[in-house]
Amino acid sequence: GEEDAQYLVSLIRTVPGFPKKDVMFRDFIPVLADQRGLSIMMKALELALPVSVDSFDYVAGLEARGFLIGVPLAAQLGKGFLAVRKAGKLPPETLNQSYSLEYGEATVEIEKDAVKPGDRVLVVDDLMATGGTAKASADLISKAGGEVVGFSFVMELIGLSGRSDFEDSPISSLVTMPA
Ligand code: PRP
Ligand code: MG
Repeated sequence: GEEDAQYLVSLIRTVPGFPKKDVMFRDFIPVLADQRGLSIMMKALELALPVSVDSFDYVAGLEARGFLIGVPLAAQLGKGFLAVRKAGKLPPETLNQSYSLEYGEATVEIEKDAVKPGDRVLVVDDLMATGGTAKASADLISKAGGEVVGFSFVMELIGLSGRSDFEDSPISSLVTMPA
Protein backbone atom coordinates (compact mmCIF):
# COMPACT_ATOMS: atom_id res chain seq x y z
CA GLY A 1 0.00 0.00 0.00
CA GLU A 2 0.84 3.67 0.22
CA GLU A 3 2.64 3.18 3.53
CA ASP A 4 4.91 0.52 2.01
CA ALA A 5 5.64 2.75 -0.99
CA GLN A 6 6.63 5.60 1.31
CA TYR A 7 8.81 3.30 3.36
CA LEU A 8 10.59 2.10 0.20
CA VAL A 9 11.21 5.69 -0.94
CA SER A 10 12.52 6.60 2.52
CA LEU A 11 15.30 4.01 2.13
CA ILE A 12 16.61 5.38 -1.19
CA ARG A 13 19.68 7.50 -0.58
CA THR A 14 20.05 10.70 -2.59
CA VAL A 15 23.46 12.33 -2.90
CA PRO A 16 23.54 15.61 -4.84
CA GLY A 17 26.61 16.25 -7.00
CA PHE A 18 27.79 12.63 -7.37
CA PRO A 19 29.41 11.27 -9.53
CA LYS A 20 29.54 14.73 -11.04
CA LYS A 21 28.17 18.20 -10.52
CA ASP A 22 24.45 18.67 -11.21
CA VAL A 23 23.77 14.93 -10.97
CA MET A 24 21.67 13.44 -8.16
CA PHE A 25 23.04 10.03 -7.17
CA ARG A 26 20.10 7.75 -6.39
CA ASP A 27 21.22 4.71 -4.45
CA PHE A 28 18.87 1.81 -3.77
CA ILE A 29 21.53 -0.29 -2.00
CA PRO A 30 20.16 0.69 1.48
CA VAL A 31 16.86 -0.96 0.50
CA LEU A 32 18.72 -4.28 0.29
CA ALA A 33 20.08 -3.90 3.81
CA ASP A 34 16.62 -3.40 5.27
CA GLN A 35 14.68 -6.63 5.79
CA ARG A 36 11.27 -4.94 5.44
CA GLY A 37 12.43 -2.75 2.55
CA LEU A 38 13.85 -5.70 0.63
CA SER A 39 10.66 -7.67 1.07
CA ILE A 40 8.48 -4.73 -0.01
CA MET A 41 10.64 -4.12 -3.08
CA MET A 42 10.68 -7.73 -4.27
CA LYS A 43 6.91 -8.13 -3.82
CA ALA A 44 6.27 -4.79 -5.54
CA LEU A 45 8.41 -5.76 -8.53
CA GLU A 46 6.29 -8.87 -8.98
CA LEU A 47 3.00 -7.00 -8.55
CA ALA A 48 4.07 -4.27 -10.97
CA LEU A 49 5.32 -6.57 -13.76
CA PRO A 50 4.77 -4.71 -17.05
CA VAL A 51 3.62 -7.91 -18.80
CA SER A 52 2.04 -11.17 -17.65
CA VAL A 53 4.34 -13.62 -15.93
CA ASP A 54 3.59 -16.18 -18.65
CA SER A 55 4.91 -13.96 -21.40
CA PHE A 56 8.63 -14.36 -20.70
CA ASP A 57 11.14 -17.14 -20.03
CA TYR A 58 14.09 -15.18 -18.61
CA VAL A 59 14.83 -12.17 -16.47
CA ALA A 60 17.90 -10.27 -17.71
CA GLY A 61 19.74 -8.12 -15.16
CA LEU A 62 22.21 -5.38 -16.07
CA GLU A 63 25.60 -5.30 -14.36
CA ALA A 64 26.04 -4.40 -11.61
CA ARG A 65 23.03 -3.17 -9.70
CA GLY A 66 20.56 -4.92 -12.01
CA PHE A 67 22.04 -8.26 -10.90
CA LEU A 68 20.94 -7.52 -7.33
CA ILE A 69 17.27 -7.53 -8.25
CA GLY A 70 17.34 -9.69 -11.37
CA VAL A 71 18.44 -12.91 -9.66
CA PRO A 72 15.97 -12.79 -6.75
CA LEU A 73 13.16 -11.73 -9.11
CA ALA A 74 13.91 -14.59 -11.51
CA ALA A 75 13.97 -17.08 -8.63
CA GLN A 76 10.73 -15.67 -7.21
CA LEU A 77 8.98 -15.94 -10.60
CA GLY A 78 10.40 -19.35 -11.53
CA LYS A 79 12.46 -18.02 -14.43
CA GLY A 80 16.09 -18.24 -15.47
CA PHE A 81 18.44 -15.31 -15.16
CA LEU A 82 20.58 -13.78 -17.92
CA ALA A 83 23.54 -11.56 -17.04
CA VAL A 84 24.16 -8.57 -19.28
CA ARG A 85 27.76 -7.65 -18.51
CA LYS A 86 29.83 -4.54 -18.87
CA ALA A 87 32.38 -4.93 -21.66
CA GLY A 88 35.64 -6.77 -21.12
CA LYS A 89 34.57 -9.29 -18.47
CA LEU A 90 33.73 -12.25 -20.70
CA PRO A 91 35.94 -14.55 -22.75
CA PRO A 92 35.21 -14.85 -26.47
CA GLU A 93 32.93 -15.29 -28.19
CA THR A 94 30.68 -12.44 -27.21
CA LEU A 95 28.09 -10.16 -28.71
CA ASN A 96 28.16 -6.53 -27.74
CA GLN A 97 26.35 -3.26 -28.14
CA SER A 98 27.78 0.20 -27.58
CA TYR A 99 25.85 3.27 -26.59
CA SER A 100 26.49 6.93 -25.94
CA LEU A 101 26.94 8.39 -22.51
CA GLU A 102 26.86 12.09 -21.78
CA TYR A 103 30.63 11.99 -22.29
CA GLY A 104 31.97 9.06 -24.29
CA GLU A 105 30.71 5.55 -24.87
CA ALA A 106 29.85 2.41 -22.96
CA THR A 107 29.41 -1.18 -24.11
CA VAL A 108 27.30 -4.07 -22.82
CA GLU A 109 28.14 -7.68 -23.58
CA ILE A 110 26.75 -11.23 -23.41
CA GLU A 111 28.15 -14.63 -24.25
CA LYS A 112 27.40 -15.48 -27.85
CA ASP A 113 25.06 -18.35 -26.96
CA ALA A 114 23.53 -16.86 -23.79
CA VAL A 115 20.32 -16.00 -25.62
CA LYS A 116 18.68 -18.47 -27.99
CA PRO A 117 16.47 -17.36 -30.85
CA GLY A 118 12.92 -16.95 -29.61
CA ASP A 119 13.80 -16.56 -25.92
CA ARG A 120 11.40 -14.10 -24.32
CA VAL A 121 13.13 -11.77 -21.91
CA LEU A 122 12.12 -9.23 -19.26
CA VAL A 123 14.90 -6.67 -18.73
CA VAL A 124 15.38 -5.40 -15.17
CA ASP A 125 17.59 -2.75 -13.64
CA ASP A 126 17.62 -0.58 -10.54
CA LEU A 127 17.31 2.69 -12.41
CA MET A 128 16.31 4.22 -15.71
CA ALA A 129 17.93 7.63 -16.14
CA THR A 130 18.57 8.41 -19.83
CA GLY A 131 17.50 4.85 -20.68
CA GLY A 132 20.73 4.29 -22.60
CA THR A 133 21.86 1.23 -20.64
CA ALA A 134 18.51 -0.53 -20.82
CA LYS A 135 18.04 0.31 -24.50
CA ALA A 136 21.50 -0.99 -25.45
CA SER A 137 20.89 -4.17 -23.42
CA ALA A 138 17.55 -4.74 -25.14
CA ASP A 139 19.15 -4.16 -28.55
CA LEU A 140 21.85 -6.69 -27.64
CA ILE A 141 19.29 -9.32 -26.62
CA SER A 142 17.37 -8.67 -29.84
CA LYS A 143 20.56 -8.97 -31.88
CA ALA A 144 21.05 -12.44 -30.35
CA GLY A 145 17.56 -13.41 -31.53
CA GLY A 146 15.75 -12.88 -28.24
CA GLU A 147 12.49 -11.03 -27.80
CA VAL A 148 12.44 -8.31 -25.14
CA VAL A 149 8.89 -8.23 -23.84
CA GLY A 150 9.24 -5.42 -21.32
CA PHE A 151 11.28 -3.57 -18.71
CA SER A 152 11.08 -3.36 -14.92
CA PHE A 153 12.90 -0.73 -12.89
CA VAL A 154 12.93 0.11 -9.22
CA MET A 155 13.46 3.83 -9.91
CA GLU A 156 12.78 6.00 -12.94
CA LEU A 157 14.17 9.48 -13.29
CA ILE A 158 11.78 11.82 -15.00
CA GLY A 159 12.90 14.80 -17.04
CA LEU A 160 15.55 12.97 -19.06
CA SER A 161 12.97 11.53 -21.51
CA GLY A 162 14.35 8.05 -20.87
CA ARG A 163 11.10 6.47 -21.96
CA SER A 164 11.23 7.99 -25.42
CA ASP A 165 13.81 5.37 -26.47
CA PHE A 166 11.41 2.53 -25.85
CA GLU A 167 8.54 3.33 -28.21
CA ASP A 168 5.61 1.17 -27.13
CA SER A 169 7.48 -1.30 -24.92
CA PRO A 170 5.76 -2.11 -21.64
CA ILE A 171 7.71 -0.49 -18.80
CA SER A 172 7.11 -0.45 -15.08
CA SER A 173 8.94 1.44 -12.38
CA LEU A 174 8.16 1.39 -8.67
CA VAL A 175 9.30 4.91 -7.86
CA THR A 176 9.59 7.99 -10.08
CA MET A 177 11.94 10.78 -9.06
CA PRO A 178 13.12 14.06 -10.57
CA ALA A 179 16.44 13.80 -12.42
C1 PRP B 1 23.52 3.03 -13.44
C2 PRP B 1 22.22 2.33 -13.10
C3 PRP B 1 21.69 1.95 -14.45
C4 PRP B 1 22.17 3.06 -15.36
C5 PRP B 1 21.06 4.04 -15.65
O1 PRP B 1 24.50 2.03 -13.65
O2 PRP B 1 22.45 1.20 -12.28
O3 PRP B 1 22.23 0.71 -14.89
O4 PRP B 1 23.23 3.73 -14.65
O5 PRP B 1 21.50 5.09 -16.47
P1 PRP B 1 20.97 5.34 -17.93
O6 PRP B 1 19.49 5.09 -17.96
O7 PRP B 1 21.27 6.78 -18.19
O8 PRP B 1 21.71 4.43 -18.87
P2 PRP B 1 26.06 2.29 -13.53
O9 PRP B 1 26.68 1.89 -14.83
O10 PRP B 1 26.30 3.70 -13.05
O11 PRP B 1 26.62 1.40 -12.37
P3 PRP B 1 26.36 -0.01 -11.66
O12 PRP B 1 27.45 -0.92 -12.17
O13 PRP B 1 26.48 0.33 -10.21
O14 PRP B 1 25.00 -0.54 -12.01
MG1 MG C 1 23.69 -0.05 -13.52
